[in-house]
Amino acid sequence: MTANATARRTVRVNLGDRSYDILIGPGLISAAGREIASRLKGRKIAVVTDEHVAPLYLDNFMAALSAEGIDAVSLVLPAGEKTKSFEHLIGVCDSVLAARIERGDAVVALGGGVIGDLTGFAAGIVRRGSRFIQVPTSLLAQVDSSVGGKTGINSSHGKNLIGVFHQPDLVLADTDVLDTLSPREFRAGYAEVAKYGLIDKPDFFAWLEKNWRAVFAGGEARITAIATSCQAKADVVAADERENGQRALLNLGHTFGHALEAATHYDSARLVHGEGVSIGMVLAHQFSARMNLASPDDGKRVEAHLRDVGLPTTMGEIPGGLPPAETLMDAIAQDKKVKGGKLTFILTHGIGQSFVADDVPQSEVVAFLREKLPK
Ligand SMILES: NC(=O)c1ccc[n+]([C@@H]2O[C@H](COP(=O)([O-])OP(=O)(O)OC[C@H]3O[C@@H](n4cnc5c(N)ncnc54)[C@H](O)[C@@H]3O)[C@@H](O)[C@H]2O)c1
Ligand SMILES: [Zn+2]
Repeated sequence: MTANATARRTVRVNLGDRSYDILIGPGLISAAGREIASRLKGRKIAVVTDEHVAPLYLDNFMAALSAEGIDAVSLVLPAGEKTKSFEHLIGVCDSVLAARIERGDAVVALGGGVIGDLTGFAAGIVRRGSRFIQVPTSLLAQVDSSVGGKTGINSSHGKNLIGVFHQPDLVLADTDVLDTLSPREFRAGYAEVAKYGLIDKPDFFAWLEKNWRAVFAGGEARITAIATSCQAKADVVAADERENGQRALLNLGHTFGHALEAATHYDSARLVHGEGVSIGMVLAHQFSARMNLASPDDGKRVEAHLRDVGLPTTMGEIPGGLPPAETLMDAIAQDKKVKGGKLTFILTHGIGQSFVADDVPQSEVVAFLREKLPK
């Protein structure tokens, strides 16, 4: 057994006959051919990636496939959130069809959450559903977006509003590739790692408070943090695949976060998703304290940790100014987590004690946002 194989972890997502493995560890891009060939009936693959990831990893990945006799074509798309569009969806579907990918073959997303969401959607609709493999290359994609089967694109009405549930057949999370991720993108993904602790794993949050430097440095602690996060998400997804209940907990910090992303027009120079989630998680804890559901000390602890790792924790840190509280409230109300006009929020009784609150008064949220917005 090689050193790489020893360090590797496997997390199983249990979904009956749609169950799949998430392999986590170093060297998985080079090992991708073997891992895929042993699981795939077909011998053809269409790889979709973006212009940042392609020069770094596409050649290696294609060589790994070809070494196992897999015939692969690739499509390189522009990087960034705007790629999650109808225009690019059409492009991906067309190139998958042009490559004559049949049902036993597979479509692969090699990239961050943008490539994963778009490619997964295409795989979900081409030939009414094609096999799909995620090779997530950002921390966010490894701990969150590549797991659980939510796919989609954005609309002028909001983020992720058009898509399908389509589970992957395999996820290969090569932890080495995170070394080329910008520190800012690594931190943004880390917000989602911390999120799993804050949802229902207080011990994991405490472990992160102690070990985050090692997680950032790489090696064993990083693999542990990613595997723990994937296991947490896998457990939630196995219990509630279609978000009828508890899966909504994964949206901790996201209602505020999405409103901030909308307010900054998805301009990644101002705010990336994980940064919005970081600020959003702090706001969710502060709002819970304001509603007398949690101690203000928990919010302070969350804020201190996220600030330590270098994430923004307040709306005032977002460059370029924000609209008034009422406008942010409109964005929140347009978010899909609104049922029958009532606001569904993920609130908390404390660290690791989040819950789904179905009936949050809008007026309280507006008053809270007014207080928290920079003057
Ligand atoms: N489907 C889900 O369940 C789910 C969950 C969370 C987030 N998302 C979605 O994921 C997206 C965000 O994902 P993201 O943060 O990965 O964004 P991203 O895909 O835009 O990647 C971030 C940046 O890092 C670059 N990059 C990726 N891997 C790299 C590497 N190894 N080395 C160097 N650069 C690299 C990308 O090219 C991009 O510029 C959002 O669209 C969000 O809505 C989906
Ligand atoms: Zn998220």
